[in-house]
Amino acid sequence: MKYIKNKLTIEKISIQSIAKKFGTPSYCYSLNQLKKNIINFKKSFKSFSPLICFAVKSNTNVSLIKEIKKFGLGADVVSMGELMIALKAGINSRKIVFSGVGKTSREISFAIDRNILLINAESKSEIQEIHRIAKLKGKKIQIGIRLNPNTDAKTLNQISTGKKENKFGVNEKTFLELVNYCKISKNLELKCLSVHIGSQILDNRPYEEMLGVIGKIIDKTNHKFEFIDLGGGMGITYDEKDKKLNYKRYSKEIKKFLKKYKSKVIFEPGRAIIGNTGILVSKVVYIKKNKEKNFVILDAAMNDFMRPALYGASHKTLPSVRIRNKSKRSYEFVGPICESTDKFVSLKKFQEIKEKDLVVICDVGAYGMSLSSNYNMRPKPPELLISGSKVKVIRKRQKHKDLL
Ligand code: LLP
Repeated sequence: MKYIKNKLTIEKISIQSIAKKFGTPSYCYSLNQLKKNIINFKKSFKSFSPLICFAVKSNTNVSLIKEIKKFGLGADVVSMGELMIALKAGINSRKIVFSGVGKTSREISFAIDRNILLINAESKSEIQEIHRIAKLKGKKIQIGIRLNPNTDAKTLNQISTGKKENKFGVNEKTFLELVNYCKISKNLELKCLSVHIGSQILDNRPYEEMLGVIGKIIDKTNHKFEFIDLGGGMGITYDEKDKKLNYKRYSKEIKKFLKKYKSKVIFEPGRAIIGNTGILVSKVVYIKKNKEKNFVILDAAMNDFMRPALYGASHKTLPSVRIRNKSKRSYEFVGPICESTDKFVSLKKFQEIKEKDLVVICDVGAYGMSLSSNYNMRPKPPELLISGSKVKVIRKRQKHKDLL
């Protein structure tokens, strides 16, 4: 995205023309940026050719998953619905891993029937259930066990998953017990140790600590893991001031680890692949001033994009037309929903704005549309895929009649 003659454009199309043709609010994705992200990710870790399983939860649009599939990626899914959409996008079932703490019998059975690569189990009860279903079907199922390494990912508390107080994975003691359980089972084949310590990680050290913990546990198991699934979590720079996760350093650390442990690495990135590809275009409905604040009331709301309301996340917010010498004001950008948390961002120096202007919220490709809802009976926005000067509607705007 850049300003061309002061008009904000995504690839070769101005935000103004998108809004005129498709209305607001609308999600738009840059295909070119998506391709760049995948190529960059693959290149950064090519020395050990990991299996890259896109975390479908970050964006469930089938057209986008089809594009991702073209680069040979697999999928990380956490529900039957996500497994269905990954298969619908044409992802090879032997490149699909199934994570999550509460897979139901129906979901496990469905996954087994689709012959996916791995079911990554997260508790003793779940492993027993997989065993029971596998036995019933007379099959031997490839599984992983998710370890909770008790590692602080140094990210937002709400999106930390690898500390001992989190519900995810099992601790070392249970992990070792479960390895033994699998060894004696005729219907389970323990292929993988998996971890995922959190999301939006920008510091390399938690990953390094995590690798240390994994190594120590593998030593104790005396088991050869064909796969080590390191999860996702690689952060992106929402703010230019954010530090960057150093892929080169992470790659080196993994290479070092693999010298001793010789497994195939699986990654489950979501945000790193899709996060910076998407924007949300919205229009100013009203400007409302009181003694304390200037509220810019947008036609997008927390139901369309939840991250600020849910995590206090802050996203770069830009005017669709830049006017260089315009005076700057302090604004609070909010949505029309009846909740005080329906607020996107407060900015101290934003160019003076007026009703009907367009505003773009950036970096919403991950956990944007996938976290949206119909709260307040609001139909969901459309999704548009931009490629050069072409726009393809990859999800239609919902209509009120879809909700009634
Ligand atoms: N693998 C597992 C097992 C996960 O739980 C997750 C994310 C991922 C992979 C992908 O993580 P990523 O590479 O995208 O960071 N809604 C939150 C993020 C929640 C992430 C949940 N798990 C947000 O908007 O920040």
